[in-house]
Amino acid sequence: MAKARGLPVDEVFLDLEDAVAPALKADARAAVAAALRAGDWGRKVRAVRVNDVTTGWAHRDVIEVVEQAGVSLDVIVLPKVTGPEHITWLDLLLSQVERDRGLAPGGIGIEAQIEDARGLAEVDAIAAASPRLEALVFGPADFMASLGMRSLEIGAQPVGYRGGDAFHYPLLRMLVAARAHGLQAIDGPYAAIHDTDGLRHAAASVAALGYDGKWVLHPSQVDVVNAEFAPGQADYDRAELILDAYEYHVTVRGRGAAMLDGEMIDEASRKLALVAAARGRAAGLPRTTSFQP
Ligand code: GLV
Ligand code: MG
Repeated sequence: MAKARGLPVDEVFLDLEDAVAPALKADARAAVAAALRAGDWGRKVRAVRVNDVTTGWAHRDVIEVVEQAGVSLDVIVLPKVTGPEHITWLDLLLSQVERDRGLAPGGIGIEAQIEDARGLAEVDAIAAASPRLEALVFGPADFMASLGMRSLEIGAQPVGYRGGDAFHYPLLRMLVAARAHGLQAIDGPYAAIHDTDGLRHAAASVAALGYDGKWVLHPSQVDVVNAEFAPGQADYDRAELILDAYEYHVTVRGRGAAMLDGEMIDEASRKLALVAAARGRAAGLPRTTSFQP
């Protein structure tokens, strides 16, 4: 937890679930809440992953952490979500604790981990289950186990698979559900911390697909993943150029479609460019080119 404070990440989640031994679950709640209260997390989103709703720990995880951490907590990560009722339960419980503690109603967000066959089959209903939802997060380890994939390497492609990316279907399915409900889509962990090339490949692939981020589980993974998700300067410049050129052609020339450097641009190009421009602006990239009619 001390190391995580200083890392250049957008969000940090403190775990009460699968990384905590059963005998230590209860003590971990107070440790996590104390770390949140102690502060110094900068602008990072502060999240806690509680145990899933089928365990005897989940309700106390939520109650104790929210009561003790209060405004120092931004988001609860709920694992192994298999249906909308899991989200409804957490939403109601959060509302009760918020009311009891005088916290802003609805202030604490929810990220839902989709990590088994049932969760994926229900992903649309899950994504629609609460206004608190902020993101859907893919859990490759539990997902691989749930489907019976023949691999022991979390997040890596199963050896022997010849069909391309073994995770393409769940990743795209989740992305569609997330976008249909205005949520972020986040990829899960890559466990082999010394396999930088494998991590880079996995991160590049989901970033290209449209994902908003990916978990890391070791400080050495941060720069690799950030680099793959960071918008490129050339893409950013091109996006701003398309926006300016399209604006010029529509308003000054009265045309809905035009050519820009040998490529047709129209309203759909503008929508695509808006996505890339928004990511570049959010990353603080400067513009290095300008549009000349
Ligand atoms: C993460 O929770 C995973 O199951 O991969
Ligand atoms: Mg998991």
